[in-house]
Amino acid sequence: MRPEEAPISSKLEAALQAALAAGEIAYDREADGWRVTGFRIARAILGDDAFRKPDFAPLALDALPPALAAAVRRGETLQRLWTVPPPEAAWPVRRTFAAAFAPRRIGYLREAMGAEAERLLAGAEGDGFDLDRDFAQPLTEWAIARLYGIDPAEIGRVAQMSGPLATAFSFGVRDRIGAAMAMATIEPVLTALLRAPSRGGAAALETVQAAMASGEISADEALSWMALSLLGGLQTNRRFLVQWLSRPAPPEGETGNSDASWLQTAAELARRNVVVDSIARQSRCPLALDAAAIPAGATFLLDLERINHDPARAEGSHLSFGHGAHMCIGRHLAMMQIESAGRVVAGWPAARRASLALAAGPMSGAAPH
Ligand code: HEM
Repeated sequence: MRPEEAPISSKLEAALQAALAAGEIAYDREADGWRVTGFRIARAILGDDAFRKPDFAPLALDALPPALAAAVRRGETLQRLWTVPPPEAAWPVRRTFAAAFAPRRIGYLREAMGAEAERLLAGAEGDGFDLDRDFAQPLTEWAIARLYGIDPAEIGRVAQMSGPLATAFSFGVRDRIGAAMAMATIEPVLTALLRAPSRGGAAALETVQAAMASGEISADEALSWMALSLLGGLQTNRRFLVQWLSRPAPPEGETGNSDASWLQTAAELARRNVVVDSIARQSRCPLALDAAAIPAGATFLLDLERINHDPARAEGSHLSFGHGAHMCIGRHLAMMQIESAGRVVAGWPAARRASLALAAGPMSGAAPH
């Protein structure tokens, strides 16, 4: 077994076999991978060291001009810091960023965020209100600017720069040069931020700076993860807010959520409105599935829409934020934003709530992380 491989337990192998027989795993020729639609098997895959985030094949850099090759190499280094396999995935940089966005670290924003959501949504009464431009975008920028101590006059520019990062962090990385360029563009901004004294109260930035100062995490790790958190905090969250507010009512026939607490409601909305469509994993050991020998490195695509609607899942559970070693560290921020908006629109008459759906135009910008 090569060093990057990891053994698989007989229990998981049996579970994979059973899921295959039940049609919860099927080969998808077009995607050249195994599509996973069952909740339990998807969670088992995400929680097991025998699977990793997809690694990327080496690119022949010799054919590129040296400056471009150097940029690509740099982009890849930063990207690799994020795709490391478990159990290494529990390394300090993940712990640092999880702490930076933990509920107790970001909770101080809750009240002000509620007021900001109320202020922005007040405009929804008028003509020409656009849910993304006039609400989701400013609210997500507001939160990230505060958590990272970014000058409010600069946050729009940072948000624009964060869009192309989607290429850097997407599965497959079709455009490796584009990814490197995206990282190279935003890197000076992030480096300056990490070096600057905190403007006071920028909780996430302070957590990251303290970990760097103590030598717990390297500058490269901080850069890589900060870029990813900007993509999540600015682009993915925007989509989540728009998708939810434009589809506020539970579809007919499903259990309503009117008397659930806002946290439960938000969790239910996260389950229904998948923003990240699928999570990709690669097997780290040979598998015997479907009577065929599958070599290590096979792709598994976890179809979140179907997984979240699997009747066999436990009540209330979903994988919208992933699970296991790579579970989203930004989920508390996303939920806090949904809650802030939810509290405002909860008091609105149904017709006014419904009118929000009409204010959701097509989304511009990057695909989510
Ligand atoms: C509704 C909003 C969001 C959704 C649906 C979402 C979804 C996800 C999912 C599914 C993963 C797991 C990917 C995998 O296992 O391959 C993930 C990872 C991650 N997310 Fe999010 N996310 C959201 C918002 C955010 C925010 C606000 C941040 C940062 C502030 C963030 C930062 C991250 C990071 C850093 C990871 C990588 C964790 C790791 O590799 O260990 N996300 N997210």
